[in-house]
This record gives sequence, structure tokens and C-alpha cells, in this order.
Amino acid sequence: MAVEPARFRDVLSAVPTSVVVVTAIDRGEPVGLAVGTFLSVSLDPPLVGFLPAASSTSFPRIRDAGAFCANVLTVNQQHVSKAFATSGADKFAGLSWRPAPVTGSPVLEGVAAWIDCRISTLHEAGDHFIVIGEVADLAAAPGEQPLVFHRSRYMGSAPGDQASRGAVTPPARPE
Ligand SMILES: Cc1cc2nc3c(=O)[nH]c(=O)nc-3n(C[C@H](O)[C@H](O)[C@H](O)COP(=O)(O)O)c2cc1C
Repeated sequence: MAVEPARFRDVLSAVPTSVVVVTAIDRGEPVGLAVGTFLSVSLDPPLVGFLPAASSTSFPRIRDAGAFCANVLTVNQQHVSKAFATSGADKFAGLSWRPAPVTGSPVLEGVAAWIDCRISTLHEAGDHFIVIGEVADLAAAPGEQPLVFHRSRYMGSAPGDQASRGAVTPPARPE
């Protein structure tokens, strides 16, 4: 039975996700995108992953960098999510960041947690990639409330305050 993209998106939007900004340094420039597909994969060895769309313009640059930092946004960072979900924007404008200890990938100021990784494997999966990273260093800020995305909205936001995601991403996104 064929699954219609609109139905797929609608049903899968019922699954709440975290909002993580995956960053890297490509040829001296910071790059990044917002993802809802960040996941913990393995403890021994320590592995995490995320799923960038094949259409992402930032992911090829992250792949070239060979490393990334996963920045877990807090409930106060909706504006950061929106900036990093806008393809072609000057995403780092007005943001403070520091290099992660091992890979130098950007750690954004005020995040709930950051995970500094080297890319270990890359798999194709439909119109997305599955990227696995080996964790090199990580830390969390105790007491920070994470930003949660559910039914195309940031939880805690007013009705109508939708993410820019729907406007900028192709249909049938799996997350
Ligand atoms: C909450 C949220 C979750 C998202 N999850 C993903 C994701 O898992 N993978 C992805 O490729 N894009 C995801 N996006 C969309 C990208 O952030 C968006 O397409 C962005 O414009 C890509 O930028 P780029 O072209 O610079 O790579 C998400 C956006 C939002 C707001």
C-alpha cells in the first residue's frame, strides 16, 4: 500500500523530538543545520547519530570537515533553531560560540548539552543519510530545559508560532 507523503508527515509529526544544531568548521568557516533526528547509538564505543537530508546544503560541508558538534538547544533557543533551519541564511550572525575541545566544531553559547564527534560512518537511507559519529568529548549544563518539537510546533510556544521548517524542507521528511 502506497503511503502518501502528507499522511506520512502528519503521522510522524506526532513523535516529539529534540532540536539539535549540528555544527562544523569547513575551510575556516562555521556551518550548521537544525535537526530533529539526533540520537544516542552506542555506549561502547560511544557513538551518536543524526539524519541530514540529501538536499541539505550544509551537510556536504560537515562531511568534508569529517567532524561535527551536536548542540542540544534549550527552550529559550527557538530563534537559534529557526536560524539554523533556514537554508542559505547567515546562521551564525549575532551568536556566540567557542571551538569544541577536540574537533574545534562550534559549541553554541547557552546550549543544554554539546557532543563533540568525529564522523565514523555514513549510510544512505532514502532521501536522507544516516551519519554516525564517534564521541570525542561532551558536556551538559545541569538544569537546562530542552527545546522539544511536536506536531510542527515548538512545545511551550503559542499556537501559530510554527517553525520555519515546513516552509523550507521537502515533504516526506522521516522525522
Ligand atoms: C525542528 C526541526 C527539525 C529538523 N530536522 C531535520 C533533520 O533531521 N534533518 C534535516 O536534514 N533537516 C532537518 N530540519 C530542516 C533543516 O534544518 C533545514 O532544511 C535547513 O534549511 C537545512 O539547511 P542547509 O541547507 O544549510 O543544510 C529540521 C528543522 C527543524 C526546525
